[in-house]
Amino acid sequence: MKLLEDNQPTDLEQMVGLSRRGFISAGALCGAAMFMGGSLLSRSVLAASVSEASPLLGFQGIAAATGDTISLPSGYTSSVLISWGQPLHQDGPAFDPSGNGSAKSQEQQFGDNNDGMSLFPFPDDDNRALMAINNEYTNYRYLFAHGGQPTSAEDVHKAQACEGVSVIEVQRKNGQWQFVQGSRYNRRIHGNTPIRVSGPAAGDALLKTDADSSGTQVLGTFQNCANGKTPWGTYLTCEENFTDCFGSSDSAQVFDAAQKRYGASVASKEIGWHAHDPRFDLAHTPNELNRHGWVVEIDPFDPQSTPVKRTALGRFKHENAALAETRDGRAVVYMGDDERGEFIYKFISRDRIDHNNPKANRDLLDHGTLYVARFDAGDGNPDHPKGQGQWLELTHGKAGLDASNGFASQAQVLVHARLAASQLNATRMDRPEWIVVSPKDGQVYCTLTNNVKRGEDGQPVGGPNPREKNVYGQILRWRETGDDHAAMTFTWDLFLIAGNPSVHAGTPKGGSANITPQNMFNSPDGLGFDKDGRLWILTDGDFSNSGDFAGMGNNQMLCADPVSGEIRRFMVGPVGCEVTGISFAPDQRTLFVGIQHPGENGGSTFPEHLPGGKPRSSVIAIRREDGGVVGA
Ligand code: FEO
Ligand code: CA
Ligand code: CA
Repeated sequence: MKLLEDNQPTDLEQMVGLSRRGFISAGALCGAAMFMGGSLLSRSVLAASVSEASPLLGFQGIAAATGDTISLPSGYTSSVLISWGQPLHQDGPAFDPSGNGSAKSQEQQFGDNNDGMSLFPFPDDDNRALMAINNEYTNYRYLFAHGGQPTSAEDVHKAQACEGVSVIEVQRKNGQWQFVQGSRYNRRIHGNTPIRVSGPAAGDALLKTDADSSGTQVLGTFQNCANGKTPWGTYLTCEENFTDCFGSSDSAQVFDAAQKRYGASVASKEIGWHAHDPRFDLAHTPNELNRHGWVVEIDPFDPQSTPVKRTALGRFKHENAALAETRDGRAVVYMGDDERGEFIYKFISRDRIDHNNPKANRDLLDHGTLYVARFDAGDGNPDHPKGQGQWLELTHGKAGLDASNGFASQAQVLVHARLAASQLNATRMDRPEWIVVSPKDGQVYCTLTNNVKRGEDGQPVGGPNPREKNVYGQILRWRETGDDHAAMTFTWDLFLIAGNPSVHAGTPKGGSANITPQNMFNSPDGLGFDKDGRLWILTDGDFSNSGDFAGMGNNQMLCADPVSGEIRRFMVGPVGCEVTGISFAPDQRTLFVGIQHPGENGGSTFPEHLPGGKPRSSVIAIRREDGGVVGA
């Protein structure tokens, strides 16, 4: 246990409500518990001590686990809400575990590999809600009977039908939320659904193809990672690893700087659509690449509505979209670009949100300004670094974003947002994943999941990315100046630096003081704040349970008190899964969590556990057996 030199909170710590004393006492206690050995003892000591420091966390943290099941604290239970392949419509085609189901069937079923999701309560009925749920990608070993890459146009079509978004109705019966098969709201949006393009890049030459000379009508959204929910009741789905879906039939094709920066390559990354669908062949349809990598807005309550790609928010590998509001009532969208060395962005709308008339906000995300973050080197504190930063404006004609540097218009700035951000010397981050805004104090939290290239090629070690060859990840947070999301400057600190204190001592590799042998994990990814201010942390990490990751077990979900810094493990997922996607029932008595790709490398039959059965990505509903608030 490394002690800090003094226990007096700094100005920043007082401002963020994090005293060094609080930080140390939780950590020191866990260290003491570790010496005493025995997880029961350590947990009871921990629980006894933190009940003072952390009134938010009312459950006993659980141990790491490696079983093919959902592990929860005592007093909690879970059930499956919906799984990959479940029919959405009355008399719809049933899930076919053989892998011989058709593309048309998949278009009428719940998509695969569910990720981010939002819940939309019915205004006039507490027992009804819609859920919009992303379907990020698919696993060919389970999707196809042949278990390999697509071998036909039908195979590609089926894979495209697995991705996108599923909108479903859920109803509460006897306290339990259930999927409503046959609801008129149930809908699939997938890799071939017509989608409109809006905002400054709509209709630009970069978005035009032979099939769409207008540059405004795109087929499909895919690789839909995480999400956002607007104050006016729409859903935002974020297109992440879209480039992986493209390849080239011309093995000698040469890509320009922008195509390379977005990852274009001849060999598509284990997806193989371009061999059977010319739309994804960069030799045939190069501009199709520019029509993806956007945030897409969907009205879940209008099943006939056309989703809209909002180009004002920039094109990159979007993780999620966290909504906030400026003091003068404009919409703010925080966004991360999940790639090693890429950036954190925020968009501020030109116009104010109309809270009385949701439809008046229909085009709010088409007009505004995009910014990218630059962080300073900070104070270099190894356990709890902090510093300052600023937002840099990505507007054509400003700061060198002009034709002399390859940006002839705002459309080009947005389509090539990564290049524009580099022009402004934004800070290259350790793979920004989810961003969330605290409902209590407005601070913004962002998972920086890992980055084994940190320390190489223009990615210096320091500031909010303090570790070379970072295999564990960290959680960054910042506070906008004046507590106004319109601010152009902010202060930042690292809420935690993940690590393995059982294998390594102290930071950097043992993690920050609030990481203990009882709560350790790697690769924080999903994040969610509940209304009480608990911060839920979901992991997408190395589940080998060995080496640097020994003792961490399967991917998991933890719960943190943002004020005391304490973290407890709440749930462990089944074998080979990622835990991603989180949503809360309005009364917080049910917590919905996504179990993505169980059995990624085999070894799972979650959730049905049929002999020889296939694992299926699922949304689960977690409740307290006494009906209380989850986590409290
Ligand atoms: Fe789809 Fe960056 O996770
Ligand atoms: Ca993720
Ligand atoms: Ca991840």
